[in-house]
Formats: sequence, structure tokens, C-alpha cells
Amino acid sequence: QTVEHYRETRERGKARTKYWELEGATGAKDKEHAEMDAEKDARIAAAIAAPEDWKKDMKFSTALKRQKNPSSNDGADATLNTAESVAITRRSLPVYSVKNQLMNIIREHQICVIVGETGSGKTTQLTQYLEEEGYARFGIIGCTQPRRVAAVSVAQRVSEEFHGGSELGQQVGYTIRFEDSTSEKTVIKYMTDGILLRESLGDPELERYSVIIMDEAHERSLNTDVLFGVLRGVVTRRQDLKVIITSATLNAEKFANFFGAAPIFKIPGRTFPVDTFFSKTPIEDYVDGAVWQAIQIHIQAPLPGDILIFMTGQEDIETTCEALAEKIGRLEKPRPLLILPIYSQLAADLQAKIFEPAPEGYRKVVVATNIAETSLTINGIHYVIDSGYCKLKTYNPRLGMDALLLCPASQSSANQRSGRAGRTGPGKCYRLFTSSAYVTEMLDTNVPEIQRTNLSHVVLLLKTLGVKDLLDFPFLDPPPAENILKSMLGLWLLGAFDLDGNLTKLGRRMAIFPLDPALSNLLFRGEEFGCLLEAVTIVAMLSVPNVFMRPHGREDESDSAREKFFVPESDHLTLLHVYQRWRAAGCRTDWCAKHYISGKSMRKAREVREQLLEIVRSEGMAETSTDEWDSIRRAIASAFFYQAARRKGIGEYINIRSGVVCGLHPTSALYGTGLSPDYVVYHELIMTRKEYMSCVTAVDPHWLAEAGPALYILKQAGEEGVQAAKRLRERRAKIEDQMRLSSQETLESKVPS
Ligand code: CDP
Ligand code: MG
Repeated sequence: QTVEHYRETRERGKARTKYWELEGATGAKDKEHAEMDAEKDARIAAAIAAPEDWKKDMKFSTALKRQKNPSSNDGADATLNTAESVAITRRSLPVYSVKNQLMNIIREHQICVIVGETGSGKTTQLTQYLEEEGYARFGIIGCTQPRRVAAVSVAQRVSEEFHGGSELGQQVGYTIRFEDSTSEKTVIKYMTDGILLRESLGDPELERYSVIIMDEAHERSLNTDVLFGVLRGVVTRRQDLKVIITSATLNAEKFANFFGAAPIFKIPGRTFPVDTFFSKTPIEDYVDGAVWQAIQIHIQAPLPGDILIFMTGQEDIETTCEALAEKIGRLEKPRPLLILPIYSQLAADLQAKIFEPAPEGYRKVVVATNIAETSLTINGIHYVIDSGYCKLKTYNPRLGMDALLLCPASQSSANQRSGRAGRTGPGKCYRLFTSSAYVTEMLDTNVPEIQRTNLSHVVLLLKTLGVKDLLDFPFLDPPPAENILKSMLGLWLLGAFDLDGNLTKLGRRMAIFPLDPALSNLLFRGEEFGCLLEAVTIVAMLSVPNVFMRPHGREDESDSAREKFFVPESDHLTLLHVYQRWRAAGCRTDWCAKHYISGKSMRKAREVREQLLEIVRSEGMAETSTDEWDSIRRAIASAFFYQAARRKGIGEYINIRSGVVCGLHPTSALYGTGLSPDYVVYHELIMTRKEYMSCVTAVDPHWLAEAGPALYILKQAGEEGVQAAKRLRERRAKIEDQMRLSSQETLESKVPS
């Protein structure tokens, strides 16, 4: 049954997988594989040995040892459903014991910082306390979250708690990009930090809000960091606005000082000791290591006591879950194990499952990304297994774009992770890395996102907000000036800035769409080439999880189903084609099932499309449409001209700007149809063992030269064209000069031959 449940989860998760790796299938079934597995297990066993033998280096946080029987709290959590037990649970949270002091501080200060252990009730309780105190009479109580999953799941929870239970989307609601679950009645609103930032465009004083809680500030997400700077301006103009910053880590002085010595309130912690074990020798494969360790715990440790495994991302998580299910299946009469993944792309109803207590006699194992570090609290966890890694969005100068990089987690992350084992009783944390790796390879804290990612979206937003000199903006930690300048250069290429770094009319319009500037640009190009409606559909399809499903065990059927939709020259057009066929089929569920298309993603795409169309209409754009696919390809070429590649061999390309070799992704229509056009543009690069372009369209090099004269000139363009291009290059040199950039590094233009 466990395996069944997992299968179901996986199928649905797969629907959203972007097929990172087509090779390297897991799930060894035959004898040879089983032997290899046994051998590998022995090696891992040698590295991490029996639990008692683990090198025990540290004991963590004995902050407040409770004399009370630890399991009593578990009991309360286990029956969360009735109103009575909800009330009991609420009162048992650490924040409840300091409610009055907390409300006094908030009453007396405009801004304050609240620090408390994960699970103390900051996110779910503060908003409700504020509502009870009457703060919602003059505006909405807003609470920002760096993660979409957290915003949704917390709003769900709070709506259940609110005045004995309310309907989600009424008094308590949430807003994330392309999804608004609020109403006129909403008084408590959870939202991603990006949403609030965007709202400040239309409502610079944030008039609708009476309180803004910037939750999870320690995460230092890009948008929260920018909000800090924006809010510092707002609070000086709006004395009536309360700002509360919450953090799960102790280094909150920085936040307090940023607002000029705001008070810091610490919620007394309630943690139990956690024994932390390091691996004796480095572990070569953390997925195998984690699976092995989880099975050991499951076999040896008594119930209750759930396990939380920290992995890096969806892919690892799925592999881990699959391997766990398989290994359990091979045991004789195993005790049942409930295996639950959690990552941001997982369907919301499956995400909610992680909060449910395991059925009697079961052990629950949750396999999570770092979302379970502080954003979500899962009750009943006694064991943590930490891979020691995470995926971080990082600007890659070689590719000139952001990519998710596998990095060692930071020491503070590792400590947060181990802390998860000690929330309801003493716990154990198994680290799949050595104590020397902890000291030598791990940074003490994470590098804030603002210092490592592409800033074009933020730069565009701040410029739209009227910030003149970005280098002067009050950042909590300023990003490297070079990153700002690079983003400005990118935006200049898109036409969002003029030579003096001022926002152009086009730039202003780009900022209106809640999209990456490159995707907004596709809409404008669509308008220009008479195919705006098609461009809107393509953008919507690119904004939802992968529509093509590839269920386990039915790869071949689903692959050939996918091929039927292929438009030979273009993945963008293939997506458009799928959407059009779906509409023609009356958006039917059985149609989706038959063609291995995710109905959920399609419906989401339709919603996104409607929302984009609303903006298109309010902007008075011409809603043009065409059935000539070449016009659409042209629009795509001119929107993505700076992400182009030239053919080197079959299926192999060279990135025109960076010179890096990259392949067509095996799921591409161009790959499937064996077409290798000379020039292509791509939507994004995926890095596995090799670099792949995903979502690719064949283009005519003339279109590229036309769209990006500052980057490309055509050899056969004739004297006039060459002169024109030369003038443009001189202007580019000027802007680069102004931006104090070394031009070789940022843009190396190549002449298409
Ligand atoms: O924000 P903080 O980490 O301080 O705590 P919280 O998120 O407000 O969580 C308080 C309690 O609510 C924890 O015991 C969570 O497990 C529980 N909770 C839940 O059961 N379901 C959710 N969707 C969110 C929180
Ligand atoms: Mg929280």
C-alpha cells in the first residue's frame, strides 16, 4: 500500500518533471543489479557504520529541556481536526505564552523584529493575534513568504484555525503569482514577497495594509531583501503602518539596525536535545546513504518517531522515495513505511499530506528540500538525515544566466536541519558528511540571494518605482555593483533602458506584466508581428509545470503520444499546438489522459492566459492573431535573439554569445524529428552532465541580426548594413563604458556566417 501510495505521488510529481535526466534509470530489479546494490550497501555501511559507531561530535541545543512528557504534545497534534483540539494546539505553541508581551511591543513600536525557533507559531499565530487585537479594522494584515508552497499551506492552516474555522479565500486568503485566493472579506493575507513587491508598483504606500509581516527574513530571499529597502521608505511616510520582521535565527540585529534600532523580541524556545552524528568517511552518493540510513532507523528504532530527509531537489527526492519504497519491498515482513515527498512543484493536495500524522503502526518518512528547514514545520519528527547539500540559484557568468547549482549547505542550514529532530522530544540527526567537511567546506551562513543571482527583474522593478540610482538604493547587503550593471546591460539589449540608463516606454510596459522581462518581451514582439494571442498562449504554457506527462513504466507510450504534437521547427509552437488541440477537444479530461497531457497544467495555463489577457486589454494592446507559424517563429526569434546558438554537428550547437557547446534536449521536438537547423533560439539552459537547451525554435539568422543589431551583423549585409551595425556597436561600447564593464566578459559578439 505504501508503494502504491508512493507510485501515485510519483506519477503526479512526474507530470511536472522537466525530464532532467533521461539516462540513469533507477529501480534495479534483476539479480545482477541486486548484487551491485548489496555491494554498494556494504560500502555505505562501512562509511557510516552502525548508528552507535557514528562519530559523535556535538550535542545540540539543550536550550529548554521540558520536564513534561514529550509525547503528550504529539498526542495533541495527532488529532488536529476538531475545533477543540485546534484550540488546544494553538495554546500549546510557544508564542502563546508570550502573547501579551508581544502585543505590547507591537503596540508601542512601529517596527519590531521577532525571533523564534521554527514551529513556535510565528507564521500561523501572529496574524491571528493581530486580527484579534483589531488591527484589521483599518487595513489588511499582510504576511509575506519567500516560498509559494509555504504561503499556500500556511493560509490553508490559518483559515482552518480562524475563529473556529473559515473557508480559505474568505477572511483568510493567499496570493501567489497567477493565483489569487482572496476576496473583499480578506483580512489576513499570505503572499509571496514577490507579490507584495509587485503591488507596491500600483500602490507605492501600500495603503491597503495596516500591518506587514515580513516572515522568514533569515532566508534572505531576493524579493524580501528588496522589500526591506522599499519598506524603509514607506514607514517614514506612513506612521500608521506596522512592520514586523520575523526570523528563525538569532542574528536579527542586522534587521533591527536597518530600521534604526527596532526592538528585538525573542520567543522563548522549546527544543529538546538532538544528538548529532557525522559520517566517519565521505559518502560518495548521498541518495544511497540517506536510503540506507533511513532503513536502518526504520528497522531498529521503536515507534513513534518519524524521519525527515533533506535532499536537494525534486529529482533526488523522487529517486530517494523510489529507492526507499523498493528496499522496503525487499524486506521480509517490513513494518509499513509512509513515504512522502515535498518540493515546490508538487501538487498542493499531496503537499498537504506531509502534515497528516502517520496511521497507527506506520512510520512516516518525509523527503524534502530545504523548504522543511524553517518554512514548514512537520510534527513528530525524531530523526533527521541530512544530505549536506542544497540547490542554489546562482548567476553563472559563463552562461550569462542563473542556473540551479548543487552546493554544500551552510553550517547554519545544517544546524537548522538537525534542530528539526528536537521539536517534540529528544532526537537524532545523521549527517551524511564528515565533521571536517562541516568545518572546511561549509560556509557559516548562506550567501543572500541578492548577491548571487540575476537582478534584471528587480532592477526593472526598482527603476519603475522611481529609484534613480540603483547603486544608492538602501540594500540590506548591496549586490555586487557588477551584477546590477550586467542586468542593466541585459535590459538595455531588450530595449527597456535608453543609453543613459533611463527606463524607456517599453521598459515601463514590461514591468506591468508579472513576468520575467524576456517573457514580457515576447508579448510585445507578438504584438509587433501580428500574433499577440499566440504569444500569450506560449508565455502561459511556459509559465506552468511541464504539460507532458511521462509516467513510470509507460515511458514509450507517453513519448510517442508527445511526438504527435511536435511542430518540427519549434518547441514553442509545439506548446501552442498542444493548447490549441486541447481547446478544440473541449478541454476534456479524457482527452488529456489519452494523450499523456497533464490536465492540471493545462487548466493552470488557461488561467494564466486569462490573467495575461486582462493586462493586455487594460494596456490597450492590439489582440492580433495569425495561423502563420512563421510569423510566430519570427516573434520568438526577435524576443530571444540574445539566447541563440549555431549548429556544430547533429543535435550539437554552440552558444553564439558564450561560445559554450550545448545540445538539444532529448525531449525537444527538433531532437525528436531529427531536424538540426543552422540557427536556433532557446528559452532556457538546463545543466546536467552536459548543457542542454530546452524549449528551442529554429530561426533564420536574418531575424537575429534584425532583432539584435547590437549583437550580430550579417556578413552579407552590404556596406550600408555593416556601417549601421558599426554605429550600433560604438553605441554599445559607449554604454558598456558608462557602466564600467569589461566588454569582453559581458558580450562577445560573433558574426553569423
Ligand atoms: O512560523 P513558525 O515556524 O514559528 O511556526 P508555524 O509555521 O506558525 O507553525 C506552528 C504550528 O502549526 C506547528 O506545530 C506546525 O506543525 C503547525 N502547522 C500545521 O500543522 N500545518 C500547517 N500547514 C502549518 C503549520
Ligand atoms: Mg514560519
